[in-house]
Amino acid sequence: MSQPKSSEIEVLPPFPETGLRIYPNDRTTLDRPLKLSLVVPTYNERRNLRQLVQRLTQLLDRLVPNDYELIVVDDDSGDRTWELADHLAQLYPQLRSIRRRHERGLSTAVIRGWQAARGEILGVIDADLQHPPEVLANLWEEIDRGADLAVASRHVEGGGVSDWSLARRFLSRGAQLIGLILLPGVVGRVSDPMSGFFMVRRDAIAGKPLDPVGYKILIEVLGRGDIRWIGEVGYVFQERNEGESKVTWKQYLEYLQHLLRLRVDLLPLARFLRFGVVGFSGVFVDLAVFYLLRDGLALGLTRSAVLSAEVAIFNNFLWNDLWTFADLSRRQRGWRKRFKRFLKFNLVCLAGLLLNVSIVNLLFNLLGVNEYVAKLIAIALVTFWNFWINLKLNWRVTDVR
Ligand code: GDD
Ligand code: MN
Repeated sequence: MSQPKSSEIEVLPPFPETGLRIYPNDRTTLDRPLKLSLVVPTYNERRNLRQLVQRLTQLLDRLVPNDYELIVVDDDSGDRTWELADHLAQLYPQLRSIRRRHERGLSTAVIRGWQAARGEILGVIDADLQHPPEVLANLWEEIDRGADLAVASRHVEGGGVSDWSLARRFLSRGAQLIGLILLPGVVGRVSDPMSGFFMVRRDAIAGKPLDPVGYKILIEVLGRGDIRWIGEVGYVFQERNEGESKVTWKQYLEYLQHLLRLRVDLLPLARFLRFGVVGFSGVFVDLAVFYLLRDGLALGLTRSAVLSAEVAIFNNFLWNDLWTFADLSRRQRGWRKRFKRFLKFNLVCLAGLLLNVSIVNLLFNLLGVNEYVAKLIAIALVTFWNFWINLKLNWRVTDVR
């Protein structure tokens, strides 16, 4: 994409169905990559923009002199914020303005800005000065120390909100709780997953299909990015001086839609299917060994059942370690670790067995469900449970969501 001089406004190609990708800085085409690209999404922020740009350039001229750009992404605001942005771009060489005519939405605006950006570090800040620009210095410090993601949080030391009503606090925390239930491994990684004020290393999200809806761009970055080291800095969310928040019920519905979309996309379906195939093979091993012990060696019923189940567990463990979770076991080499995983696998399967029997009894005795239907439901639930517990507690690598 050619670098627009501040006199013209960039107009973007249509939004692809498969989500947007940000690419690694291409040093062959890019005349000079920058350290930081800070995106400012705007919708009817004409009365805030001038002051914001002034304060941001003052701060960033000190923090990353000649090595940053500000990118205003405006969705064709009725108050012609894009026009002011274009005008300011004439005065501030670091400023670029993008006008989206056929697209709307905070988080996609941010991603569009990052797509056009030249920075190694990609940041976002609101235009209404509710995110104090001074906090950028603390975020930058975290990035400098090596963080992949630096988040300004209202819920750590030094953080807070100005005078929010109880209802608004309840709504914000309620939304966070729903996120924790649906996506604990994503939403639970930061104290303020709703924050719209952060910086991320381009490499951590380059090439990933980003496909958010609504406002919560941070959750998309956490869910799809390769984020290992997270730094958090406290900030107080200020009251808005000019204009009003664009948040309506629509944003809350979009948030739920976003959570569910991520939940489905991040479900390790392929891995679960492999786990299922291995589980299935275990049934055959169990039956074959049971037959050999009973008919071949005339062993007692319980002894045969326990032994054949254990052989099946061993079979399942082996295939899961070598196939289902191969990429994870490779990172935890050595027979000692493998044996530990085997013991844990046994424990999880044993607990699964107890769960299986309890579910069958509950469905059959309490809810009067047909015993075979009850058995099938129990097998399905326990298979998922076995998979999830083994994924989280046994072959656990923190970045598995
Ligand atoms: N381009 C574009 N398109 N920008 C938008 C749109 C849109 O559809 N909707 C809002 N914006 C811009 C606003 O102009 C503002 O700069 C910023 O996004 C935040 O919008 P607000 O409407 O002021 O949001 P808020 O203050 O209620 O909520 C903010 O703070 C929350 C707490 O950190 C947002 O950052 C939320 O994401 C965040 O959760
Ligand atoms: Mn705001």
